[in-house]
Amino acid sequence: MTLRAMGRIIRIWTAFLLFTVGCSAWGADDFPSQGAVVAAQPAAAQAGVAMLEAGGNAFDAAAATALALGVVEPGSSGLGGGGFFLLYIAKQHRFVMIDGRESSPQLAGHGEIYQRKSSIDGPQSAGVPGLLAAVARMQQHYGKLPRADTVAPAIHLATKGFTVTPRLRRMLDWRKDVLNPAAKRLFLSGNRIRQPALAQVLRRYAKFGKDDFYRGQTAGRMVADMQRDGGLIRLEDLAGYRAKERRPVVFHWHGYRVVSAALPSSGGMVLKEIFGMMQHDDLMAMDRADRTHLLIEAMQRAYRDRNRFLGDSDQVTIPSHLLNPIRLAKLRQSIDMAHTTPSAELGKSTEPAGNGRDTTHFSVIDRHGNMVAATLSINYGFGSGYVSPSTGILFNDEMDDFATRPGVPNAYGLVQGKANAVAPGKRMLSSMTPTIIQGKRRTLILGTPGGSRIISMVLLTAVAFMRNQTPPESWVAAGRFHHQFLPDVVQFEPGALDAAMQKELRARGHRLQQVHSYGNMQAILWDRPSGVLTLLSDPRGEGEGVRQQ
Ligand code: GLY
Repeated sequence: MTLRAMGRIIRIWTAFLLFTVGCSAWGADDFPSQGAVVAAQPAAAQAGVAMLEAGGNAFDAAAATALALGVVEPGSSGLGGGGFFLLYIAKQHRFVMIDGRESSPQLAGHGEIYQRKSSIDGPQSAGVPGLLAAVARMQQHYGKLPRADTVAPAIHLATKGFTVTPRLRRMLDWRKDVLNPAAKRLFLSGNRIRQPALAQVLRRYAKFGKDDFYRGQTAGRMVADMQRDGGLIRLEDLAGYRAKERRPVVFHWHGYRVVSAALPSSGGMVLKEIFGMMQHDDLMAMDRADRTHLLIEAMQRAYRDRNRFLGDSDQVTIPSHLLNPIRLAKLRQSIDMAHTTPSAELGKSTEPAGNGRDTTHFSVIDRHGNMVAATLSINYGFGSGYVSPSTGILFNDEMDDFATRPGVPNAYGLVQGKANAVAPGKRMLSSMTPTIIQGKRRTLILGTPGGSRIISMVLLTAVAFMRNQTPPESWVAAGRFHHQFLPDVVQFEPGALDAAMQKELRARGHRLQQVHSYGNMQAILWDRPSGVLTLLSDPRGEGEGVRQQ
């Protein structure tokens, strides 16, 4: 047997042993010392923790946090949008993803309308909202508290109002021109935002459940507004919408179990492809320049595949060989550690980045070890800019996440394949990547907004967690870099790559582009043997971690 083969066997055995040790440590005896919520706005984190203190579990807390975020961070998520909730149900040792992604209205056909009209601004850019269906499903199937309790904080915040924060002010300045008159009245009338009509919708949800939103009075009002104002969503679309339970993407890497979002989010599959390419790489031993180069090259290849092959798996067939280990090993072999491979040599597909000023993420844990990682969105900042006047609901512009005009970049510069073409009832491909990573001692719950850069942000934080060479706070604070195949450049935040690293990467042929800082990660680190939680809120944002008393 050659030394190389022996080395490989030892590595496989080490990984197996670490994995089995890890499995036994993931037993039901591990409990955090307290529950906690980390969210992009303190009021939303407090709403979640209030549920824990009232005897609710992580799923009640997630329902309350999601609804409250839609009120106090209205430019990023809300009832007019959708998202993904990744749940860990401790008693059952089970992960499940609740898919509340928007779907395409019937009237959008195969996207012909977007030859004439914007898929970003205005009511025609809205997909059928999924957030409330997902929240209702999570709460009904997995929560403990009465529905009304979980809605109460959001109703309170919508009624009493909240003060516009600097982050929201910046987002309003950016998107104010696309807001319709109802949205302008709500969001541009002063320094305090009150949303009485939305409070009424939330009260009706508390009383009647999601049917009011999807089949009842609220549905009728939303559709009447949409019909008058040029939107495409009709009663049949709302009545036909379902939140779906999906099996998350799960994979193992060097003793870690990574659980992440399934299609129609591309997040989990792209992460799996990248880690799969690096299956035999020792990121601990590798020097920083090699590690950075390898991550960039792996991102480039996985984003290429994302755009070419991925879409709503309920409607399109995803090639079965995509994540085959032999294919991933070949992709790894194609990486030259001394030189970058130009994207043009790797084939077609493209996807420039978003700016991170949309979407939101929160992480939750309770005393029993139940966990939620949830990433929610209305897509662009303030979504479509369209508020339905009679309901106060701000609609998403998630239709732009489809390949609405093949060959033409979307808001994130995405030029995607047929797999993600518009079709009635189809869910648009997402990059949202709520993730839970379990190591042999520690668990990390994480996610972030940031458009197409979401996946690379989660990747970099996952690698920092696995390497464990720096304090946890730096995992969410550290400068970020990103490659998404096209444009064929490495985008990086100020300070992410020092002068020496830039020189080294240029020497390997990389084109570098400094961009504004991006992302807003909200994470929880749980040291399982001690029960200690470390709450990690991205210093780029206004978020906060709140602990149960
Ligand atoms: N709307 C951003 C995403 O889902 O990727």
